[in-house]
Amino acid sequence: MTSCYNPVMTEEQRIKELRAHLNYCNYCYYIENAPIVSDYEFDTMLRELQDLEAAHPEMADPNSPTARVGSDVTNEFRSIEHTFPMLSLSNTYSLDELHEWIDRVQKEIGESEFVCELKFDGTAISLTYRHGALLRAVTRGDGTRGDDVTENIRTIRSVPLTLTGNDYPDFFEIRGEVFMPYASFDRLNAEREANGEPPFANPRNAAAGTLKQQSSQVVARRGLDCTLYQLAGDNLPYDSHWGSLEAARKWGFRISDNKAICRNTEEIDAYINHWDTARKALPFPTDGVVIKVNRFADRRALGSTAKAPKWAVAYKFKAEQALTRLLKVTYQVGRTGAITPVANLEPVLLAGTVVKRATLHNADQIAALDLREGDMVYVEKGGEIIPKITGVDLSQRPAYSRPLEYITECPVCHSKLVRYEGEAKHYCPNQSHCRPQILGRIIHFIRRKAMNIDSLGEETVELLFENGLVGCIADLYDLRAEQLAPLPRLGEKSAENIIGSIRRSTEVPFHRVLFALGIRFVGETTAKYLAAHFRSLDAMMAASREQLIEAEEVGDKIADSILDYFADEQNRAIIERLRSAGLQFEARQQTPASEALQGLTFVISGTFHNHSRDELKAMIEAHGGKNLAAVSANTSYLLAGDKIGPAKLQKAQKLGIAIISEDDFERMIADRMVGGNPSDEAEDTGLIPDTTTDSTKNPAEENSGQPQQGTLF
Ligand code: IVH
Repeated sequence: MTSCYNPVMTEEQRIKELRAHLNYCNYCYYIENAPIVSDYEFDTMLRELQDLEAAHPEMADPNSPTARVGSDVTNEFRSIEHTFPMLSLSNTYSLDELHEWIDRVQKEIGESEFVCELKFDGTAISLTYRHGALLRAVTRGDGTRGDDVTENIRTIRSVPLTLTGNDYPDFFEIRGEVFMPYASFDRLNAEREANGEPPFANPRNAAAGTLKQQSSQVVARRGLDCTLYQLAGDNLPYDSHWGSLEAARKWGFRISDNKAICRNTEEIDAYINHWDTARKALPFPTDGVVIKVNRFADRRALGSTAKAPKWAVAYKFKAEQALTRLLKVTYQVGRTGAITPVANLEPVLLAGTVVKRATLHNADQIAALDLREGDMVYVEKGGEIIPKITGVDLSQRPAYSRPLEYITECPVCHSKLVRYEGEAKHYCPNQSHCRPQILGRIIHFIRRKAMNIDSLGEETVELLFENGLVGCIADLYDLRAEQLAPLPRLGEKSAENIIGSIRRSTEVPFHRVLFALGIRFVGETTAKYLAAHFRSLDAMMAASREQLIEAEEVGDKIADSILDYFADEQNRAIIERLRSAGLQFEARQQTPASEALQGLTFVISGTFHNHSRDELKAMIEAHGGKNLAAVSANTSYLLAGDKIGPAKLQKAQKLGIAIISEDDFERMIADRMVGGNPSDEAEDTGLIPDTTTDSTKNPAEENSGQPQQGTLF
C-alpha cells in the first residue's frame, strides 16, 4: 500500500486502511526490527489519519495508531481487580538455593524442562485483549488490584493495540514488564538535571514513575518499552510456556529472544553465567534470571504458595561492587544553592568503567553510613548507572580516623548553610553573591531551551563574570560590543555575534523566558503550563498560592517555590530590568480567530473530553472572549466539565448564570461565527507542552503488598 489517496475509496474506508497499515508498520519496526516505510512516510500517513479522524468523530477508536501520541487529558487511575492475581516470584542470590529448588522440582515431577529468561528490571504490567484489541492495561498494584494505566500503555509502540493473525484467544491476559532502556533513561535524567529537577535514581524508578504520569503525552515522549513473558487465561490452547510465548510473538507482542530451554542444573548454570556478563552489553536493565518450569501440566502439579508459584524462581545478580578508599569528601554548589557532597575515591574499576567519584546525596546519608575519610568503602552502581557508596569495611578503618563533620558553611562563599523543612539537602542562601549560583543561573538562562543565546558559552560567561561585566542575567542586556571586543579569546566579530544573539533573545516567547528565570522546580514543561494558564508574568506574580495550584502540573511545592522567587526583592528588580530590555513577559496574542465570543466572560471548571482547560481558555481568547478565575455576577457562562468544583457550581446556580458543557461551547462558537469554519478555532499559541519533563505532583513508586493465592493456569 502507498500513502497516495485513492479517490474511489470513502474516507471511512481510508481510515480503516490507514489504521491497519500503520499498525503493520509499527509491528515491522518495533517487533521485527525491519522497517518497511521511512519515518517521513509514516508521519505523513499518521497525519492523514489524524485529519480524517478529526473529520469523522463517529469513527473514534481508542486503539487507533493515533492514540500512541498520547493526550494531555488528565489520566485517572481506576483501581481494577486482576482476573488472575499477579503473584510475585521467590528469589534468591544463592546458586546453592537455586540448585536445591531444581532438585525439588525434579523430585516432584521427574524429568523436567525449564525455560530460563532474563529478569527485566522495570515494573510489571498486565494487558488484557478482547477480540484481538487491547482492552486495558493494569499495574501489579498489590497483586489483587492494580491501577488502570491503559492510556499510558497505548503510547508504548511495542505494545500492539490490535493483534495480527487469527489464532489468538478471544479473551486473554498477557503479562510482562514495562522498562526504560538506558538511552531513554539517560536522556530523561539529563533533561531533568538541566531543568533543576531531581533525576530518577535508576531506570526502574523512572519506568514506574512514568507509568503513573497524569499526561499520556509525557509518557509518549519518555521512550518506555515493554516485553511480555507470561500468558494468562482460562483454557489456553497451549501445553507449554515456550509454545504460548512463541504464539504470542506471532500475534505481534515483543517476546524476548534471550530465553532458552534448559534441562538440568548444568544448563541453567551455563545460562546464568553467560548472562551475568553478557547482560552488561544489553541496552536495557536486567537484574537476574527467571527460571520457569515449561510444561503447564507440570506447573499445575507443583502449584503455588500464597505469594508465589512453586514452578518458578528468580536468581538475582549481585550488584557489582568494588572496595576502594574514600580519599576526601568535597561539596558542590548547584545553581539553586543546593549542596551535594561528593565522595572522591581512589580510582577503581566497576562494571566496565573507572570510578573516581560517587555522589553522597546529603548529610543524612553520610551519617547513616558513618563515613570517614580514609575508610575503605564499598561502591556499587545503583541500577547499574550512578555509583554510590553502600557500606564501610570497618575492619580496615584507620586508627586515627574521626567522624566526618558535615560542612556548616558554603564551601565557596562561606555563608552559613540552611536546611529547609522537609528537604534533605542543605542550601547556601547567598543567591546573589555565591559564584557557582550566579554562574549557574546565567548559564541556565542562555541555554538553547531557555533564551538560546547561542554565541555565549559557559567559558565566555565565566570570562564576563571575572571581568565584572555580568553579575546577573539582567546585566546581559546592558552589554555593549566595545566592552567585549578587548577581552581575551573574543575580538570584534565574536563581540558583535554575542550582542546580536542577546538582542534576538528578546523575541523568545514568554514560556521560555519563564523557564529561563530558573525558578526552582519550574522546568520546561511546567513553564509552558504556567504560561498557558496565566498568559503574562504580571498575572503570575499577582497569583496567590491557591491560584498558582490551579495551573496544570503545579502542586504545593512548585507554588511555594514560585512565591518565594517573586517575594525576593532582588529577583523583582531583575525582572523589571528584563522588562525594560524588552523580553516577552506575555504569551503572544494571535490575531483573534473570530469575534464570536466578544463581550462574553467564561469561568472554566472541571475536566473535559475534547480539550484541556488551557486549550479552552486559549479558544475563548482567540474568539474575543475573556476568562475569569471565579464565578461572579459578571460571568456570562460557567463552562462545566466532569468533576466540577461544587462551590463554583452552587454559586453559578445561585446567581442564575448559564452553565454550559464543552459541546454547548463548541456549538456556541460555530453558531456565532459568521462565515467561519467552526473546526478552525484551535489557536496556535505555541504553548502546548512538547517536552519530557516530569511533574513533581505525582510520586513515582508503585506499592506492592500481599497478593492472593491463585494460579495462572
Ligand atoms: S514471571 C508468577 N518473568 O519480576 C510469576 N517476571 O520479582 C510472574 N520480572 O513481578 C512473573 N522479568 O515484574 C517473570 N522474565 C520474567 C520477568 C519477571 C522481570 C519481574 C516481574 C515480577 C517480578 C518478581
